[in-house]
Amino acid sequence: MDAVDLLTQDHRKVEAIFMQLQQEKGGQSQQLLAQLYRELSLHAMAEENIFYPALASNTAMSGQLIDAFKEHGEMKAILGELAALGNGPSGLSDRVTKLMKKVEHHVKDEEGKVFPAAREMLDKDRMQVLGQQIMEAKQMALPGVQNSLPAMELGMGGSASTTGPQTFA
Ligand SMILES: [Fe+2]
Repeated sequence: MDAVDLLTQDHRKVEAIFMQLQQEKGGQSQQLLAQLYRELSLHAMAEENIFYPALASNTAMSGQLIDAFKEHGEMKAILGELAALGNGPSGLSDRVTKLMKKVEHHVKDEEGKVFPAAREMLDKDRMQVLGQQIMEAKQMALPGVQNSLPAMELGMGGSASTTGPQTFA
């Protein structure tokens, strides 16, 4: 799968988790939050380490990329707060809503501007190679991301026990 298709698929997965979280009346929310943390952390890492650097040679993209890094920083700060809250209910839904708005903005920017520009800038082969690199980088980073979430109940083997969107298709 090419890089843009892969990153777009991540966006849809994250939106699906937010939808499930909004419908959640209790019980599964820690598992959903852990999934959200994992998906967003891996997505931001893949974009920052692989995808954005591939676009950085185009100076017309620099404003977009600076914005993207800033937005990732804001998302990570909220993810850190969510992780620190763990099972405590206070402030959880406010932060989830705040995070959802940030993610919506990120998705709109990327799918509206960054991804179309990337498709014009990079040829099909390069996109495929970047897609492969993104998948490999996510696999490598997964254990570290899981370990950074001590406050949430990830269960044995992380995604193996979940019923929602999986990290790797
Ligand atoms: Fe993204």
